[in-house]
Order: sequence, then structure tokens, then C-alpha cells
Amino acid sequence: MNIEQIRSDISNYGNKIFLNSAGSSLMAKSVVQKIEQYLHQEERSGGYKLVELREEDISDFYHQAATLIGANPKNIAFTHDATDAYIKALSSINFKNGDVIITTDDDYASNQIQFISLQRRFDISIIKIKTLQNGDLDISHFQELLEKYTPKLVAVTHVPTNSGLIQNVEAIGKICKEQQVLFLVDACQSVGQLNVDVQEIKCDFLTTTGRKFLRGPRGTGFLYVSDKALEKGYYPLFIDGGGAIWSQENQFEILQSAKRYETWEKPYALLIGLSEALRYANEIGMEGIVSYNKKLMTRLRENLAGLNGVRIFDNGSRTCNILTFRKEGKSLEEIEKVFDSNNVYFSDSQKEWGVIDFDKKGIDWAIRLSPHYFNTLAEMDKVSEIIERM
Ligand SMILES: Cc1ncc(COP(=O)(O)O)c(C=O)c1O
Repeated sequence: MNIEQIRSDISNYGNKIFLNSAGSSLMAKSVVQKIEQYLHQEERSGGYKLVELREEDISDFYHQAATLIGANPKNIAFTHDATDAYIKALSSINFKNGDVIITTDDDYASNQIQFISLQRRFDISIIKIKTLQNGDLDISHFQELLEKYTPKLVAVTHVPTNSGLIQNVEAIGKICKEQQVLFLVDACQSVGQLNVDVQEIKCDFLTTTGRKFLRGPRGTGFLYVSDKALEKGYYPLFIDGGGAIWSQENQFEILQSAKRYETWEKPYALLIGLSEALRYANEIGMEGIVSYNKKLMTRLRENLAGLNGVRIFDNGSRTCNILTFRKEGKSLEEIEKVFDSNNVYFSDSQKEWGVIDFDKKGIDWAIRLSPHYFNTLAEMDKVSEIIERM
């Protein structure tokens, strides 16, 4: 991996230390150029004509997304963000009173809100898989739950928003496949930073966003739908003319591919931008990205673990490029001030985004640093010194 080249592909990186790829990362120049170019063409030819003219580039998006996660283009739907993908997947499941959803303590806040909302309408039960002392999922407890309940859905967030934990979606997926239980994975924080392979995870649905570790534009995401789910005829409850054809007065026919999960209207310029971000990641290769990211995080975690008064909050036998910490005696505002004055881009995680996890940890906020492959080891050292001095 040519880090210098990768850094020069970013406009005006300057002397900032950008550590917020878990929030909204930095796009490569080529991503922005593709969007601008598309918009300028749209300005001249109008949106509908341009879709015809750029048909090949538009369909390349499905190819790039599929390549990144080990799928086929027909299993990919463009969505407006990860939550849009998640809602569409959830809405395609025919929940009835008494159904059970099995999920985890570390599932994303909006997913938890949606489960509770479903519970209010359908009186479903939401059951959580226990976590082990080290933060990993208790897989034998999951097996017990499967024997006890016959869940309609198992839903697991691969990497939560508020810590560097990696949940063992491969183990859960293997069991779900054996038991023929529907499996939905929120891979919003993992696609682009970790190897995410739907053949290994064996999920029915997988959701992600464009703007985070994928380095795409805001307002984009995609949904993977397995062959099995397509063949079984799942489709979103509020399907539109992009996903189905109104064939007779009281009849519609769904599309064969995962495009049945799309709405007709799309921000094509942004889709083209996301496609370029995917192409960029595919060209560098996830193997290189994953191994370089590991080096960055090992350095940062070791540096911070050695500092007096710094408490790191990431559990789990496997962690990734999200590090959450607090420094004894320092308020959020004080840390913010020091980072801002040193040009460190970061974010904070508030309890409302991880209620169960933060309750277990006894905190209501943490600083979140999320380096990505355009960062350097020197930046990891510099930010560690800034934290030591603050
Ligand atoms: C784990 C996880 N899932 C889902 C989302 C929602 O993503 P979006 O805002 O693109 O809908 C986030 C956003 O932070 C997230 O961290």
C-alpha cells in the first residue's frame, strides 16, 4: 500500500490528524470529482437522459459493492444510508404477535429502537444473547436460546458504534444457516475497514453505509440480500415502482434482483460517488487495508494503555479501528478543546447510542478515535502525546 499516494489522493489533508472514519470519513478526490462531473452532465442533459447515457457506470456500482463483500451484483440494492437498508430489510419480514427477535446488547441504537417499535405494534419478544466476561458473544447461550425459542429473526451488529468490539457474526451465521433462521447483520462500521464476506457470514441481509470506513459520500448505503431471501420472495412492505411493476389493477410483480429493495428515485450522482469509493477500496484491496489498520491500532492501543489515568473501554477478544477512552479528571469539553487546538478530528460517543454497553461500563460518554488506512504511525504517536500532555 502506498500511503503517500493514498494521502495525496485526499484534498488538503494538511496538518490535521483525522481520526473520525467511524463518523464520516474523508473521501478521495476521485470520489468528489465523479460526483461533480455527473452533476455537471445532469445540468446539461437532465436527469432522465443521463441515466440512459451513464447506464454502464451506474450498473458498475452493483459490481463494485458485490466484489467488496463476496456477493453477486444481483444481490445488491442501493440505499440512502445504513438505516434505510435496515428498515427495508426489517419491513420485509412478516412479523406477527408473539414472534421472537434474538439480538445482542451491542446492537446499534436505531436497530434497538426499531425492535421496540415492532414490539409496540406486534407484541414481539426481544431476547438478547448473553455476553461473556470479556465482551464476546456467548455462543452456547445463543444455541440454548435457539432451542428454547423459534425466533423469526436473529439480528447482530458486527461492530457497534460506541466501541471497537468485533462481534462473532460468522459463528452466529453458521448456526442460523444450520437451523434455517433468518439472519440480519448490521455491518455499517465494518465494511471498508474489515474483511466482510457474506459467504463466510452466511447472512440473509447485510446493511452498510457509504460515508464511514468506505469513504463514500453522505446519503448513500447499500443492502445485501441473499439468494435464499430473494427466492423466498421477501420484499419491503412499502415497495415502490422501482422495486415492483404494477401489472394489473390489484396486482404487482416484484423484481427478480435485490433492486426490489430500492426506491425508484435515486441520487445518481452520489451513487456514482459511492461506486468510485468502492472501486478505490477494491483496487487497494481489503487485505492490505486490514493489515495496515491492525498496525495502526496496535500502536495506538499500546501507546494509550501505557498512559497514566487513561481508561480504554473496548471489550472483546477481537477489536478493530474504533478506540474509546476517557482520561481521569478531564471533562468532555476539556478534551474537545485540546483536540480542536491540535487539529485532531475525533468524535464522542454518548450513552444514548449504546445504553446497555455504557451502563455495564458505568459511563455516559467516551471519546471515540477511529483511524483508517490513510493515517500514519507517526500520527498515532502524536495523538498519544497530546493525550498524555492534556
Ligand atoms: C453500527 C451502526 N449501525 C448503523 C448506523 C446507522 O448508519 P446510517 O446513519 O448511515 O443510517 C451506524 C451509524 O453510526 C452505526 O454505527
